[in-house]
Amino acid sequence: MHAVVLLAWCLLGAVWAIAETLLIKGGTVVNAEHQLAADVLIADGLIQAVGRDLQAPANARTINAAGKLVMPGGIDPHTHLDAHMMGTISCDDFYSGQAAALAGGTTMHIDFALPSNGDLAAGFARYQAAAAKSVMDYSFHMAVTSWDDKVAADMGELAAAGINSFKFFLAYKGVFAVTDAQLLQGLARCKELGALPMVHCENADALVDAQERVFASGVTGPEGHYLSRPAVFEDEGTARALRLAEYVNVPLYVVHVMSGGAADEVARARRGGQRVVGEAVASGFASEERMVWDADFRVAAQYVMSPPIRSPEHQRRLKAALAGGMLGVVATDHAPFNSSQKRLGLGDFRKIPNGVNGIEERLHVTWDALVATGLITPSDFVRLTSAAAAHAFNIYPRKGVLAPGSDADVIIFDPAAEHVLSAASHHSRMDTNIYEGRTVRGKVETTISQGRAVWEGGALKVRPGAGRFIALPTGGPLFDGLDRLDASYQHRNFPYGATPVKRAAPGETKSRDEL
Ligand code: URP
Ligand code: ZN
Ligand code: ZN
Repeated sequence: MHAVVLLAWCLLGAVWAIAETLLIKGGTVVNAEHQLAADVLIADGLIQAVGRDLQAPANARTINAAGKLVMPGGIDPHTHLDAHMMGTISCDDFYSGQAAALAGGTTMHIDFALPSNGDLAAGFARYQAAAAKSVMDYSFHMAVTSWDDKVAADMGELAAAGINSFKFFLAYKGVFAVTDAQLLQGLARCKELGALPMVHCENADALVDAQERVFASGVTGPEGHYLSRPAVFEDEGTARALRLAEYVNVPLYVVHVMSGGAADEVARARRGGQRVVGEAVASGFASEERMVWDADFRVAAQYVMSPPIRSPEHQRRLKAALAGGMLGVVATDHAPFNSSQKRLGLGDFRKIPNGVNGIEERLHVTWDALVATGLITPSDFVRLTSAAAAHAFNIYPRKGVLAPGSDADVIIFDPAAEHVLSAASHHSRMDTNIYEGRTVRGKVETTISQGRAVWEGGALKVRPGAGRFIALPTGGPLFDGLDRLDASYQHRNFPYGATPVKRAAPGETKSRDEL
């Protein structure tokens, strides 16, 4: 780099490093547990105080939040930035995807690092390099797509490096999918490490069969994607993953629950005492399955994701499960492929890159679909979009709450404002938007990331390199007491006598007491 440019860059970084002192005055602070009228004082990148009538320090800038809600910045625990998938690379990198996130009130995301040629460590290194241009806090889950001793060892190394969750795909046969035997080994390894296993639940074999049948019947367009992924595949995969996790006695995080049946499976497991986090994604309850029937391939293909966006009845059940607490997190699965990339599947729906946008729209469509309709409260909203992810991935209360000492990731939200979502005004590099033209109630007016107002008055002020990798510690609260549960299983008192049962050798006639 030219010396002058380098100097300018360093100076910009140094100025950036001087955090703002901000006093957010007169708003309603909403946390997952409660809401109250209070001011929020921010300095040195941290929340210093939350309380009534806080006085502004001499160097503070005051932001008037009267009539507004002041909430923790969103945490999106499911994104795919700069992801190499299905023969292409998702069109948002760690700069554009995060800029979009900040404009929509999300201040941290957890991306899925994919292995490089099956190698986890190499895959993580590639994603770390790609994330160097980050403008906000981020972390990673690691996908496990094969199994051998090196994979198990790499999982340990990655856990030590700050990765506390591993994703297993039951779908994408021949690419990412693992067998049940591999999943069992992976679940056991996760348990050993205190890392949360995550599962994409669809039956890989049934899927391939259905895809071949649908394609052979002459359906080659995006609707074929939908027709070849019926809810029963997802329901079965979810039930199977949950039961295998129950057998191993390890907590489980079910990603992108899209069917009512899968939500019911999560609810059943939770009722049975299993430690399960069910993740909904915004597109799952706020988008429209009918769109893949659109006569224009460009429109239809942008709605192709897996599992697919389903019927209004499934969406009603997903929203009910979120309102009832059976599904506990709202993410996005932001996997952005623009229309030229989607054209890779023109004439064969099996080749359409899977994924939709959402990182920028998540908070708005969730508020509009769930809070503005009266299904959930603002505190529920904070839990679903921020606090629950912080809990699941073991960074609460550093993130997910507005409390003294927490990172100053904050949004100021106007519940009375309305705005229109569109590719013409969004910040993602996508040339389409699955929420195109939709008017949503509520608006993120200001986003504060690491103590700096980075989205204000409709303008973004971000700096590549300002984003930090947030190491996620293993052994979170979901793992508390698992060893005691294991011990109680092995040493359970059966009414039939102790195990192992002592038995006479063949021909011996000793009684049970004599043995
Ligand atoms: O269609 C999707 N969901 N694309 C991203 C990859 C995945 O399965 O999460
Ligand atoms: Zn998935
Ligand atoms: Zn995904």
